[in-house]
Amino acid sequence: MLENDIQEILFSEEQLKTRVAEIARQIETDYAGQEIMLISVLRGSFIFMADLCRAIHLPCTLDFMSVSSYGTGTTSSGQVQITKDLSEDITGRNLIVVEDILDSGNTLSYLLNILDHRHPASVRLCALLDKPERRVKPVELHYRGFPIPDAFVVGYGLDYAEKYRNLPYIGILKPEIYGG
Ligand code: IMP
Ligand code: MG
Repeated sequence: MLENDIQEILFSEEQLKTRVAEIARQIETDYAGQEIMLISVLRGSFIFMADLCRAIHLPCTLDFMSVSSYGTGTTSSGQVQITKDLSEDITGRNLIVVEDILDSGNTLSYLLNILDHRHPASVRLCALLDKPERRVKPVELHYRGFPIPDAFVVGYGLDYAEKYRNLPYIGILKPEIYGG
């Protein structure tokens, strides 16, 4: 069973739902009367994105992009590549980039830089999880779900070797699974 590989549940389905609703309220307040464009960074943010966008009651468009960052098992590197680009033009739009987790910051600092060059009206970042201890590149995080300690977590979209994304909660993966 998938569950047997989890050391500890950090956030239950209920806790995630509550926090997602709080973030949605904050976004609605900040962008009242405006239209926003949510950009999901695949694949880790797909579940968070699906829940967040349904909790936001503002005119909203969605787009998706995918990046790969070369690194070993559980860490990313500074070398990031776009493997799937946006389908929409973002010029003049109010973007909110939706990520699963902000770790070293390598992936997002690269991504935010690319988006900036396309002249959106504004760009903000929303990440469900944040590991501040691990930051290598500074990244401004406007909407943060939860700060977490330096542990490898899975579930609610987050994977290890492409598995565990379908767990409905977020849990710490047993280190023996990834040889930690
Ligand atoms: P960064 O470039 O180091 O900030 O890494 C960001 C990406 O690494 C995230 O979007 C995740 O895909 C992945 N990542 C970082 N930490 C974890 C974790 O604890 N569990 C699963 N994926 C993670
Ligand atoms: Mg990711």
